[in-house]
Amino acid sequence: MWFPYRPVLCTLVSLLTTVSARQQPLAAHQVNSFTPYDADLFTPFEDLHALHASEYTVLHHPNFPAHSVRIKQSHFCDGEVRAYTGYIDIEARHLFFYFFESRRDPDTDDVVFWTNGGPGGSSSLGLFMELGPCRVTGPNTTERFDYAWNEHANVFFVDQPVGVGFSYAEYGEQVSSTVEAAKDISAFIVIFFEHFSKFKGRPFHFAGESYGGRYLPVFAAAVYDRNVELVEAGLTPINLTSVMIGNGATDFIGVVRSYYDVMCMDYGFPAITGISDCVRMKQLLPRCEKRFQQSCIDVQDSIDCADAWRFCWDSFAWQYQYINAYDHRKPCKGHPDGPSCYTELQDIGHYLNDPETQAKLGVDQVHNNFTWMDRDLQARFAADYWSFRAKHYLAALLEGGIRVLIYVGDTDWICNWVGNERMTLELEWTQQEVFREQSLREWFVDGEVAGKTRTAGPLTFATVRDAGHLVPYDQPVRALRLANRWLAGEEL
Ligand SMILES: *[C@@H]1O[C@H](CO)[C@@H](O)[C@H](O)[C@H]1NC(C)=O
Ligand SMILES: *[C@@H]1O[C@H](CO)[C@@H](O)[C@H](O)[C@H]1NC(C)=O
Ligand SMILES: *[C@@H]1O[C@H](CO)[C@@H](O)[C@H](O)[C@H]1NC(C)=O
Repeated sequence: MWFPYRPVLCTLVSLLTTVSARQQPLAAHQVNSFTPYDADLFTPFEDLHALHASEYTVLHHPNFPAHSVRIKQSHFCDGEVRAYTGYIDIEARHLFFYFFESRRDPDTDDVVFWTNGGPGGSSSLGLFMELGPCRVTGPNTTERFDYAWNEHANVFFVDQPVGVGFSYAEYGEQVSSTVEAAKDISAFIVIFFEHFSKFKGRPFHFAGESYGGRYLPVFAAAVYDRNVELVEAGLTPINLTSVMIGNGATDFIGVVRSYYDVMCMDYGFPAITGISDCVRMKQLLPRCEKRFQQSCIDVQDSIDCADAWRFCWDSFAWQYQYINAYDHRKPCKGHPDGPSCYTELQDIGHYLNDPETQAKLGVDQVHNNFTWMDRDLQARFAADYWSFRAKHYLAALLEGGIRVLIYVGDTDWICNWVGNERMTLELEWTQQEVFREQSLREWFVDGEVAGKTRTAGPLTFATVRDAGHLVPYDQPVRALRLANRWLAGEEL
């Protein structure tokens, strides 16, 4: 979920000094001098099923001396499919993950890495509310979920970056940008594939939603670039195949602009604004775009950029406090924030804070206070909202032959389909014109219109009809068909 609330914007001001001190370079993945692979130094663990349930097995790899992976079998969730939990340990930082084998054939099915957004949101929301093999149905209970995405795939859910969900740092070491987080994620994937070598060469997909639309292009680029090092070192590269982004916040300025469109133009969203407000916004739009261009794109000046960002946000995003910005069809219980729009969040919190659950999952007791959204991290990530052009990463991935699926629940307001469609049309890559020339066509599930779609080469845009921000939550069947067809490389 993307929850860029007012308090975050207010904290932004006090953060500016720290933000400006650490500008991120755009080219983020410096090629480290990589040790050539020496088979004598490394014995893969190989058999996932041989992992213990009561204690962790620690996996190392000589090429990643700073990283290790702790993993165990964990008996929870739907009571059938094999589940694993553990931590990616990077010195004093610890990232928690869940891994579920495919319900069909774990030995041949693809591998999917899922992350929720926020920034600061735990991927356990994706697991227990959206696409995992079970749903939390009460404070102490889970129930099998029939439309889980591990129907045809092996699926990871990762609490990232450090600070989110059960992930933590021992001495308050923090991650403040997507680019930093990407290094840990790509190292983890390599260690996992090296140890469980049956996965080597298996198609690998990054999937996620909301702020994931900013994380995933960078994560995929990190894996793509790391593959070069892996080949040089004599290791097997990761078969990075696609990126799947649901209701993404990929292009910040495009998101802001889309608020004018959905409020003042006829895109099927409820009219919540009068003409005078629309006229005012129309006049502010060029100023917002100009200031953003000048301070955030032409020159990366953190202070001016933060001002521009706040100006744009205040000019266009004020309406979301009056509606359920995640699904304009559904009222929230009270002020529209996460827990009042999605009451399941409370049950998930109880379930994950239950000592019995934590014992099953192997949660480190030094950091066992689960919260679904890390507000501090969200504030630290303020500069990440504008510090890199996620669109450029997507365009570069497309050029590299990585497939990209941009899917959007069509009743979401905050990361709506209008802005996402425009983002796909504006991507600058060799097949841009071919993509733009395609008209939207309907796609179907069980004879019913499931949404609209457009494809050219590796790029697909698709709406999902009658779904809000959390597509698999609102439309589990459509979401699963979409995912399965995409993984199989079929047309929608
Ligand atoms: C990656 O996966 C695709 C799809 O299964 C397959 O055709 C291709 O050979 C794989 N590539 C590698 C290098 O294993
Ligand atoms: C559910 O978990 C809570 C917290 O651990 C515990 O206090 C309560 O007794 C449990 N309820 C049931 C019905 O097991
Ligand atoms: C756990 O986190 C919640 C929400 O941040 C906080 O209110 C509570 O005091 C924390 N509990 C402990 C034991 O740290």
